[in-house]
Amino acid sequence: MQQPELEFINSLRQSSRYIEQHRGKTFVIYVPGETLQRDDTRKQLTEDIGLLHNMGIKIVLVMGAGPQLEAALEANQLTWQMHLQIRVTTPEILPVFQQTIALVRNQLEANFSKATCTQSKPITITSGNWIIAQPKGVVEGVDFQHTGKLRKVNHRAISDNLNAGQICLLTPIAYSLTGELFNLNTFEQACEVASAIQADKLMVFTSEEETVGLPKQLSIPKLKVALENSQSIEQKRFLAQILSTSGHVKRIHLMDKHETSAILVELFTRDGSGTLIFSDRYHQVRQAKIEDVGGIIDLISPLEEQAVLVKRSRERLELEIENFIILERDQHIIGCAALYPHDGGFGELACLAVHADYQGQELGHELLDAIETTAVHTHINKLFLLTTHTHHWFIEHGFHVSQLNELPEAKQAMYNFQRNSKVLIKAI
Ligand SMILES: CC(C)(COP(=O)(O)OP(=O)(O)OC[C@H]1O[C@@H](n2cnc3c(N)ncnc32)[C@H](O)[C@@H]1OP(=O)(O)O)[C@@H](O)C(=O)NCCC(=O)NCCS
Repeated sequence: MQQPELEFINSLRQSSRYIEQHRGKTFVIYVPGETLQRDDTRKQLTEDIGLLHNMGIKIVLVMGAGPQLEAALEANQLTWQMHLQIRVTTPEILPVFQQTIALVRNQLEANFSKATCTQSKPITITSGNWIIAQPKGVVEGVDFQHTGKLRKVNHRAISDNLNAGQICLLTPIAYSLTGELFNLNTFEQACEVASAIQADKLMVFTSEEETVGLPKQLSIPKLKVALENSQSIEQKRFLAQILSTSGHVKRIHLMDKHETSAILVELFTRDGSGTLIFSDRYHQVRQAKIEDVGGIIDLISPLEEQAVLVKRSRERLELEIENFIILERDQHIIGCAALYPHDGGFGELACLAVHADYQGQELGHELLDAIETTAVHTHINKLFLLTTHTHHWFIEHGFHVSQLNELPEAKQAMYNFQRNSKVLIKAI
Protein backbone atom coordinates (compact mmCIF):
# COMPACT_ATOMS: atom_id res chain seq x y z
CA MET A 1 0.00 0.00 0.00
CA GLN A 2 1.23 3.53 -0.83
CA GLN A 3 2.20 5.94 1.96
CA PRO A 4 -0.64 8.45 1.28
CA GLU A 5 -3.20 5.62 1.40
CA LEU A 6 -1.75 4.33 4.66
CA GLU A 7 -1.87 7.82 6.15
CA PHE A 8 -5.47 8.21 4.99
CA ILE A 9 -6.51 4.90 6.55
CA ASN A 10 -4.74 5.74 9.81
CA SER A 11 -6.41 9.12 10.08
CA LEU A 12 -9.79 7.54 9.26
CA ARG A 13 -9.22 5.04 12.07
CA GLN A 14 -8.23 7.82 14.45
CA SER A 15 -11.22 9.99 13.60
CA SER A 16 -13.97 7.35 13.44
CA ARG A 17 -14.60 7.27 17.20
CA TYR A 18 -15.15 11.04 17.22
CA ILE A 19 -17.85 10.76 14.56
CA GLU A 20 -19.93 8.63 16.93
CA GLN A 21 -19.07 10.87 19.91
CA HIS A 22 -20.26 14.08 18.20
CA ARG A 23 -23.46 12.74 16.60
CA GLY A 24 -26.59 14.43 18.00
CA LYS A 25 -24.55 17.06 19.90
CA THR A 26 -25.11 20.81 19.62
CA PHE A 27 -22.22 23.08 18.65
CA VAL A 28 -22.25 26.87 18.44
CA ILE A 29 -19.62 28.06 15.95
CA TYR A 30 -18.47 31.67 15.96
CA VAL A 31 -16.94 32.86 12.69
CA PRO A 32 -15.61 36.43 12.51
CA GLY A 33 -15.89 38.50 9.36
CA GLU A 34 -12.18 37.98 8.52
CA THR A 35 -12.73 34.25 8.04
CA LEU A 36 -15.65 34.90 5.67
CA GLN A 37 -13.94 37.53 3.53
CA ARG A 38 -12.25 35.30 0.97
CA ASP A 39 -14.32 33.18 -1.42
CA ASP A 40 -12.07 30.12 -1.10
CA THR A 41 -11.99 30.06 2.72
CA ARG A 42 -15.74 30.73 2.96
CA LYS A 43 -16.36 27.88 0.51
CA GLN A 44 -14.13 25.51 2.48
CA LEU A 45 -15.72 26.46 5.78
CA THR A 46 -19.28 25.97 4.55
CA GLU A 47 -18.35 22.57 3.07
CA ASP A 48 -16.82 21.52 6.39
CA ILE A 49 -19.80 22.77 8.39
CA GLY A 50 -22.09 21.00 5.91
CA LEU A 51 -20.15 17.80 6.54
CA LEU A 52 -20.62 18.18 10.31
CA HIS A 53 -24.32 18.88 9.80
CA ASN A 54 -24.76 15.73 7.72
CA MET A 55 -22.95 13.70 10.39
CA GLY A 56 -25.84 14.57 12.70
CA ILE A 57 -24.28 17.51 14.58
CA LYS A 58 -26.71 20.35 15.35
CA ILE A 59 -25.10 23.64 14.42
CA VAL A 60 -25.73 27.25 15.34
CA LEU A 61 -23.49 29.48 13.23
CA VAL A 62 -22.84 33.02 14.44
CA MET A 63 -21.28 35.23 11.79
CA GLY A 64 -19.39 38.47 12.25
CA ALA A 65 -18.78 40.98 9.46
CA GLY A 66 -16.24 43.48 10.88
CA PRO A 67 -13.95 44.01 7.85
CA GLN A 68 -16.89 43.87 5.40
CA LEU A 69 -18.58 46.68 7.36
CA GLU A 70 -15.36 48.74 7.49
CA ALA A 71 -15.02 48.47 3.70
CA ALA A 72 -18.69 49.35 3.07
CA LEU A 73 -18.55 52.39 5.36
CA GLU A 74 -15.37 53.59 3.70
CA ALA A 75 -17.00 53.25 0.29
CA ASN A 76 -19.85 55.45 1.60
CA GLN A 77 -17.46 57.96 3.23
CA LEU A 78 -18.71 57.03 6.68
CA THR A 79 -16.77 56.00 9.79
CA TRP A 80 -17.61 54.42 13.12
CA GLN A 81 -17.60 56.60 16.15
CA MET A 82 -15.98 54.60 18.97
CA HIS A 83 -16.50 54.79 22.71
CA LEU A 84 -14.85 52.40 25.19
CA GLN A 85 -13.58 50.49 22.14
CA ILE A 86 -17.21 49.79 21.15
CA ARG A 87 -18.78 51.00 17.90
CA VAL A 88 -21.61 53.50 18.01
CA THR A 89 -24.23 52.63 15.37
CA THR A 90 -25.79 55.91 14.23
CA PRO A 91 -28.95 56.19 12.06
CA GLU A 92 -26.71 57.31 9.11
CA ILE A 93 -24.72 54.08 9.37
CA LEU A 94 -27.76 51.85 9.75
CA PRO A 95 -28.69 51.37 6.01
CA VAL A 96 -25.07 50.47 5.11
CA PHE A 97 -24.96 48.16 8.12
CA GLN A 98 -28.16 46.35 7.07
CA GLN A 99 -27.08 46.04 3.43
CA THR A 100 -23.64 44.67 4.36
CA ILE A 101 -24.97 42.08 6.80
CA ALA A 102 -27.53 40.99 4.20
CA LEU A 103 -24.74 40.67 1.62
CA VAL A 104 -22.51 38.52 3.85
CA ARG A 105 -25.50 36.40 4.82
CA ASN A 106 -26.43 35.92 1.14
CA GLN A 107 -22.85 34.90 0.33
CA LEU A 108 -22.97 32.31 3.11
CA GLU A 109 -26.36 30.98 2.04
CA ALA A 110 -25.10 30.69 -1.53
CA ASN A 111 -22.04 28.78 -0.32
CA PHE A 112 -24.21 26.39 1.68
CA SER A 113 -26.38 25.76 -1.39
CA LYS A 114 -23.25 25.03 -3.39
CA ALA A 115 -21.85 22.81 -0.61
CA THR A 116 -24.96 20.64 -0.96
CA CYS A 117 -23.34 19.21 -4.15
CA THR A 118 -20.55 17.72 -2.05
CA GLN A 119 -22.96 16.15 0.46
CA SER A 120 -25.45 13.31 0.33
CA LYS A 121 -28.25 15.41 1.87
CA PRO A 122 -29.25 19.06 1.21
CA ILE A 123 -27.85 21.58 3.69
CA THR A 124 -30.50 24.04 4.76
CA ILE A 125 -29.68 27.15 6.73
CA THR A 126 -32.20 29.41 8.42
CA SER A 127 -32.19 32.61 10.45
CA GLY A 128 -34.83 34.37 12.53
CA ASN A 129 -35.68 36.83 15.25
CA TRP A 130 -34.52 34.52 18.05
CA ILE A 131 -32.44 37.15 19.82
CA ILE A 132 -34.21 39.94 21.65
CA ALA A 133 -32.05 43.05 21.83
CA GLN A 134 -32.13 46.17 23.95
CA PRO A 135 -30.27 49.47 23.55
CA LYS A 136 -26.79 49.69 25.03
CA GLY A 137 -27.99 53.12 26.09
CA VAL A 138 -26.05 56.21 27.10
CA VAL A 139 -22.67 55.45 28.69
CA GLU A 140 -20.49 58.27 30.08
CA GLY A 141 -22.67 60.72 28.15
CA VAL A 142 -22.27 58.88 24.83
CA ASP A 143 -25.46 57.51 23.27
CA PHE A 144 -24.74 54.18 21.58
CA GLN A 145 -27.95 54.59 19.53
CA HIS A 146 -28.44 51.43 17.42
CA THR A 147 -25.64 49.53 19.12
CA GLY A 148 -27.47 47.11 21.34
CA LYS A 149 -26.97 44.29 23.77
CA LEU A 150 -28.59 40.94 24.12
CA ARG A 151 -31.67 40.90 26.32
CA LYS A 152 -33.05 37.39 25.83
CA VAL A 153 -32.50 34.30 23.69
CA ASN A 154 -35.54 32.43 22.42
CA HIS A 155 -33.71 29.15 22.96
CA ARG A 156 -36.80 27.01 22.34
CA ALA A 157 -37.20 28.43 18.83
CA ILE A 158 -33.51 27.77 18.10
CA SER A 159 -33.75 24.21 19.45
CA ASP A 160 -36.92 23.57 17.39
CA ASN A 161 -35.08 24.65 14.23
CA LEU A 162 -32.05 22.53 15.10
CA ASN A 163 -34.25 19.51 15.77
CA ALA A 164 -35.95 20.08 12.42
CA GLY A 165 -32.56 19.59 10.75
CA GLN A 166 -31.70 23.24 10.03
CA ILE A 167 -28.40 25.02 10.54
CA CYS A 168 -29.32 28.16 12.52
CA LEU A 169 -27.58 31.36 11.45
CA LEU A 170 -27.21 34.38 13.72
CA THR A 171 -25.95 37.72 12.44
CA PRO A 172 -25.12 41.01 14.22
CA ILE A 173 -28.71 42.14 13.57
CA ALA A 174 -31.26 41.69 16.35
CA TYR A 175 -34.53 43.44 17.23
CA SER A 176 -35.95 44.86 20.41
CA LEU A 177 -39.47 44.13 21.63
CA THR A 178 -40.45 47.53 20.23
CA GLY A 179 -39.30 46.37 16.78
CA GLU A 180 -36.17 48.55 16.67
CA LEU A 181 -33.10 47.19 14.89
CA PHE A 182 -29.78 46.83 16.79
CA ASN A 183 -26.18 45.99 16.04
CA LEU A 184 -24.96 43.31 18.48
CA ASN A 185 -21.45 42.06 19.14
CA THR A 186 -21.48 38.61 17.55
CA PHE A 187 -18.81 36.99 19.75
CA GLU A 188 -20.80 37.92 22.86
CA GLN A 189 -23.93 36.70 21.11
CA ALA A 190 -22.28 33.33 20.36
CA CYS A 191 -21.29 32.96 24.03
CA GLU A 192 -24.77 33.90 25.31
CA VAL A 193 -26.55 31.63 22.84
CA ALA A 194 -24.24 28.70 23.62
CA SER A 195 -25.04 29.18 27.32
CA ALA A 196 -28.79 29.61 26.75
CA ILE A 197 -29.21 26.49 24.60
CA GLN A 198 -26.70 24.56 26.76
CA ALA A 199 -24.57 23.73 23.76
CA ASP A 200 -22.15 20.83 24.07
CA LYS A 201 -19.41 22.93 22.51
CA LEU A 202 -18.68 26.52 21.66
CA MET A 203 -16.15 26.75 18.83
CA VAL A 204 -14.59 30.17 18.37
CA PHE A 205 -12.42 31.29 15.46
CA THR A 206 -10.21 33.87 17.08
CA SER A 207 -7.07 35.99 16.72
CA GLU A 208 -3.53 35.43 17.90
CA GLU A 209 -3.73 38.51 20.16
CA GLU A 210 -6.57 36.86 22.06
CA THR A 211 -4.95 33.45 22.45
CA VAL A 212 -1.27 34.38 22.83
CA GLY A 213 0.43 32.38 25.60
CA LEU A 214 -2.44 29.91 26.05
CA PRO A 215 -1.53 26.20 26.16
CA LYS A 216 -3.37 23.49 24.20
CA GLN A 217 -5.66 22.63 27.11
CA LEU A 218 -6.88 24.81 29.90
CA SER A 219 -8.92 23.85 32.93
CA ILE A 220 -11.08 26.58 34.51
CA PRO A 221 -8.64 27.28 37.38
CA LYS A 222 -5.85 27.66 34.81
CA LEU A 223 -8.04 29.91 32.66
CA LYS A 224 -8.50 32.16 35.70
CA VAL A 225 -4.73 32.34 36.15
CA ALA A 226 -4.26 33.15 32.43
CA LEU A 227 -6.85 35.91 32.76
CA GLU A 228 -5.12 37.40 35.80
CA ASN A 229 -1.69 37.24 34.16
CA SER A 230 -2.77 38.62 30.80
CA GLN A 231 -1.11 41.91 29.90
CA SER A 232 -3.47 42.98 27.14
CA ILE A 233 -6.89 44.58 27.62
CA GLU A 234 -8.16 42.87 24.46
CA GLN A 235 -7.14 39.43 25.71
CA LYS A 236 -8.50 40.12 29.21
CA ARG A 237 -11.89 41.07 27.80
CA PHE A 238 -11.92 38.00 25.57
CA LEU A 239 -10.91 35.58 28.34
CA ALA A 240 -13.40 37.11 30.79
CA GLN A 241 -16.21 36.41 28.32
CA ILE A 242 -14.95 32.86 27.80
CA LEU A 243 -14.71 32.36 31.57
CA SER A 244 -18.30 33.42 32.16
CA THR A 245 -19.46 31.09 29.36
CA SER A 246 -17.45 28.15 30.72
CA GLY A 247 -19.93 27.89 33.60
CA HIS A 248 -22.59 26.77 31.09
CA VAL A 249 -20.69 25.16 28.21
CA LYS A 250 -18.38 22.28 29.10
CA ARG A 251 -15.99 22.59 26.20
CA ILE A 252 -14.88 25.74 24.43
CA HIS A 253 -12.49 25.45 21.52
CA LEU A 254 -10.39 28.40 20.37
CA MET A 255 -9.14 28.13 16.79
CA ASP A 256 -7.04 30.31 14.52
CA LYS A 257 -9.37 32.45 12.39
CA HIS A 258 -7.03 32.15 9.40
CA GLU A 259 -7.14 28.33 9.47
CA THR A 260 -10.56 27.27 8.21
CA SER A 261 -9.69 23.55 8.39
CA ALA A 262 -9.00 24.01 12.10
CA ILE A 263 -12.58 23.03 12.86
CA LEU A 264 -12.15 19.49 11.49
CA VAL A 265 -8.70 19.09 13.05
CA GLU A 266 -10.14 20.24 16.38
CA LEU A 267 -13.05 17.82 16.27
CA PHE A 268 -11.53 14.72 14.72
CA THR A 269 -7.98 14.49 16.00
CA ARG A 270 -6.86 13.66 19.51
CA ASP A 271 -4.88 16.83 20.07
CA GLY A 272 -6.88 19.29 18.00
CA SER A 273 -5.46 22.44 16.46
CA GLY A 274 -6.03 25.20 18.99
CA THR A 275 -6.83 25.59 22.68
CA LEU A 276 -9.49 23.58 24.49
CA ILE A 277 -11.04 25.06 27.63
CA PHE A 278 -12.79 22.37 29.61
CA SER A 279 -14.90 22.49 32.72
CA ASP A 280 -15.55 18.75 32.81
CA ARG A 281 -12.71 16.36 33.50
CA TYR A 282 -10.94 15.97 30.23
CA HIS A 283 -9.40 12.67 31.28
CA GLN A 284 -10.22 10.02 33.80
CA VAL A 285 -8.27 7.57 35.92
CA ARG A 286 -9.98 4.21 36.11
CA GLN A 287 -9.41 0.55 36.84
CA ALA A 288 -7.94 -1.21 33.78
CA LYS A 289 -9.97 -3.86 31.94
CA ILE A 290 -8.81 -6.74 29.79
CA GLU A 291 -9.70 -4.74 26.63
CA ASP A 292 -7.14 -2.11 27.72
CA VAL A 293 -4.16 -4.47 27.36
CA GLY A 294 -3.47 -3.39 23.75
CA GLY A 295 -3.48 0.29 24.71
CA ILE A 296 -1.19 -0.32 27.69
CA ILE A 297 1.25 -2.21 25.45
CA ASP A 298 1.26 0.71 22.96
CA LEU A 299 2.03 3.07 25.83
CA ILE A 300 4.76 1.11 27.61
CA SER A 301 6.58 -0.69 24.79
CA PRO A 302 8.73 2.36 23.81
CA LEU A 303 9.74 2.65 27.50
CA GLU A 304 10.51 -1.08 27.66
CA GLU A 305 12.69 -0.74 24.58
CA GLN A 306 14.62 2.06 26.31
CA ALA A 307 14.88 -0.22 29.41
CA VAL A 308 13.11 2.45 31.50
CA LEU A 309 10.45 -0.15 32.32
CA VAL A 310 10.88 -3.90 32.73
CA LYS A 311 9.54 -5.92 29.79
CA ARG A 312 6.08 -7.44 30.36
CA SER A 313 4.55 -9.97 27.98
CA ARG A 314 0.95 -9.61 26.79
CA GLU A 315 0.08 -12.80 28.75
CA ARG A 316 1.53 -11.34 31.94
CA LEU A 317 -0.35 -8.09 31.43
CA GLU A 318 -3.59 -10.01 30.85
CA LEU A 319 -3.07 -11.99 34.06
CA GLU A 320 -2.18 -8.92 36.08
CA ILE A 321 -4.65 -6.46 34.55
CA GLU A 322 -6.54 -6.11 37.83
CA ASN A 323 -3.44 -4.55 39.38
CA PHE A 324 -3.45 -1.76 36.79
CA ILE A 325 -5.13 1.61 36.64
CA ILE A 326 -5.15 3.67 33.48
CA LEU A 327 -5.45 7.31 32.56
CA GLU A 328 -7.79 7.70 29.62
CA ARG A 329 -8.45 10.65 27.40
CA ASP A 330 -11.02 10.50 24.60
CA GLN A 331 -10.93 6.69 24.82
CA HIS A 332 -7.18 6.69 24.39
CA ILE A 333 -4.83 5.37 27.08
CA ILE A 334 -2.25 8.04 27.90
CA GLY A 335 -1.03 6.78 31.29
CA CYS A 336 -0.93 3.73 33.52
CA ALA A 337 0.35 2.42 36.85
CA ALA A 338 0.17 -0.86 38.76
CA LEU A 339 -0.03 -1.81 42.43
CA TYR A 340 1.01 -5.23 43.75
CA PRO A 341 0.28 -6.04 47.40
CA HIS A 342 3.07 -7.74 49.41
CA ASP A 343 3.36 -9.08 52.96
CA GLY A 344 3.98 -6.80 55.92
CA GLY A 345 1.77 -3.88 54.78
CA PHE A 346 3.95 -3.36 51.68
CA GLY A 347 2.63 -2.47 48.24
CA GLU A 348 4.76 -2.26 45.10
CA LEU A 349 4.17 0.57 42.68
CA ALA A 350 5.18 -0.46 39.17
CA CYS A 351 4.86 0.45 35.54
CA LEU A 352 4.03 4.13 36.18
CA ALA A 353 4.07 5.81 32.78
CA VAL A 354 2.61 8.86 31.09
CA HIS A 355 2.68 9.15 27.29
CA ALA A 356 5.50 11.48 26.22
CA ASP A 357 3.05 13.95 24.60
CA TYR A 358 1.27 14.48 27.92
CA GLN A 359 4.13 14.61 30.41
CA GLY A 360 4.59 17.67 32.60
CA GLN A 361 0.85 18.16 33.26
CA GLU A 362 0.95 16.48 36.67
CA LEU A 363 -0.73 13.39 35.26
CA GLY A 364 2.02 11.22 36.77
CA HIS A 365 1.19 12.85 40.09
CA GLU A 366 -2.52 12.09 39.57
CA LEU A 367 -1.76 8.41 38.86
CA LEU A 368 0.44 8.22 41.95
CA ASP A 369 -2.36 9.76 44.04
CA ALA A 370 -4.81 7.18 42.71
CA ILE A 371 -2.41 4.33 43.53
CA GLU A 372 -1.91 5.71 47.04
CA THR A 373 -5.68 5.94 47.59
CA THR A 374 -6.14 2.30 46.49
CA ALA A 375 -3.20 1.29 48.70
CA VAL A 376 -4.73 2.94 51.76
CA HIS A 377 -8.06 1.18 51.11
CA THR A 378 -6.30 -2.18 50.91
CA HIS A 379 -4.40 -1.63 54.21
CA ILE A 380 -1.06 -1.02 52.58
CA ASN A 381 1.00 1.47 54.60
CA LYS A 382 4.35 1.36 52.79
CA LEU A 383 4.69 1.86 49.08
CA PHE A 384 7.93 0.79 47.39
CA LEU A 385 9.28 0.69 43.88
CA LEU A 386 12.37 -0.14 41.90
CA THR A 387 13.56 2.36 39.31
CA THR A 388 16.62 2.88 37.15
CA HIS A 389 15.81 6.29 35.63
CA THR A 390 13.23 8.11 37.67
CA HIS A 391 14.29 8.16 41.34
CA HIS A 392 14.45 11.98 41.50
CA TRP A 393 10.82 12.27 40.43
CA PHE A 394 9.79 9.84 43.17
CA ILE A 395 11.91 11.63 45.79
CA GLU A 396 10.09 14.83 44.84
CA HIS A 397 6.87 12.93 45.48
CA GLY A 398 7.68 11.82 49.03
CA PHE A 399 9.72 8.63 48.49
CA HIS A 400 13.16 8.11 50.02
CA VAL A 401 16.04 5.99 48.75
CA SER A 402 16.23 2.74 50.76
CA GLN A 403 18.19 -0.49 50.91
CA LEU A 404 17.25 -3.78 49.35
CA ASN A 405 17.05 -5.47 52.75
CA GLU A 406 14.19 -3.11 53.73
CA LEU A 407 11.94 -4.75 51.11
CA PRO A 408 9.71 -7.81 51.70
CA GLU A 409 11.82 -10.98 51.50
CA ALA A 410 10.03 -12.36 48.44
CA LYS A 411 10.90 -9.19 46.54
CA GLN A 412 14.53 -9.27 47.70
CA ALA A 413 14.83 -12.78 46.27
CA MET A 414 13.66 -11.55 42.86
CA TYR A 415 15.96 -8.50 42.70
CA ASN A 416 17.82 -8.24 39.40
CA PHE A 417 21.37 -7.22 40.31
CA GLN A 418 22.25 -6.61 36.68
CA ARG A 419 19.55 -3.97 36.39
CA ASN A 420 20.81 -2.45 39.65
CA SER A 421 17.61 -0.48 40.24
CA LYS A 422 17.33 1.98 43.07
CA VAL A 423 14.94 1.05 45.87
CA LEU A 424 12.51 3.72 47.03
CA ILE A 425 9.97 3.59 49.84
CA LYS A 426 7.21 5.93 50.97
CA ALA A 427 5.12 5.60 54.13
CA ILE A 428 1.47 6.36 53.39
C1 LIG B 1 7.79 9.81 35.58
C2 LIG B 1 6.54 10.19 34.83
C3 LIG B 1 5.47 9.15 35.09
C4 LIG B 1 6.05 11.57 35.31
O1 LIG B 1 4.85 11.89 34.64
P1 LIG B 1 4.41 13.43 34.41
O2 LIG B 1 2.95 13.41 34.14
O3 LIG B 1 5.28 14.06 33.42
O4 LIG B 1 4.69 14.00 35.86
P2 LIG B 1 4.37 15.37 36.48
O5 LIG B 1 3.73 16.32 35.51
O6 LIG B 1 3.61 15.09 37.75
O7 LIG B 1 5.83 15.88 36.82
C5 LIG B 1 6.64 16.46 35.83
C6 LIG B 1 7.98 16.85 36.42
O8 LIG B 1 8.76 15.67 36.67
C7 LIG B 1 10.01 15.83 36.01
N1 LIG B 1 10.48 14.52 35.58
C8 LIG B 1 10.03 13.74 34.59
N2 LIG B 1 10.80 12.61 34.50
C9 LIG B 1 11.73 12.72 35.46
C10 LIG B 1 12.82 11.90 35.84
N3 LIG B 1 13.10 10.76 35.24
N4 LIG B 1 13.58 12.31 36.87
C11 LIG B 1 13.34 13.47 37.51
N5 LIG B 1 12.32 14.31 37.18
C12 LIG B 1 11.54 13.94 36.15
C13 LIG B 1 9.73 16.74 34.85
O9 LIG B 1 10.91 17.38 34.41
C14 LIG B 1 8.74 17.73 35.45
O10 LIG B 1 9.44 18.67 36.20
P3 LIG B 1 9.02 20.22 36.19
O11 LIG B 1 7.59 20.25 36.67
O12 LIG B 1 9.97 20.86 37.14
O13 LIG B 1 9.15 20.64 34.78
C15 LIG B 1 6.79 10.31 33.30
O14 LIG B 1 7.87 11.18 33.11
C16 LIG B 1 7.10 8.99 32.64
O15 LIG B 1 6.19 8.31 32.17
N6 LIG B 1 8.39 8.64 32.55
C17 LIG B 1 8.80 7.43 31.89
C18 LIG B 1 8.43 6.18 32.68
C19 LIG B 1 9.10 6.11 34.04
O16 LIG B 1 10.22 6.52 34.26
N7 LIG B 1 8.32 5.55 35.00
C20 LIG B 1 8.77 5.32 36.34
C21 LIG B 1 9.27 3.95 36.49
S1 LIG B 1 8.33 3.04 37.64
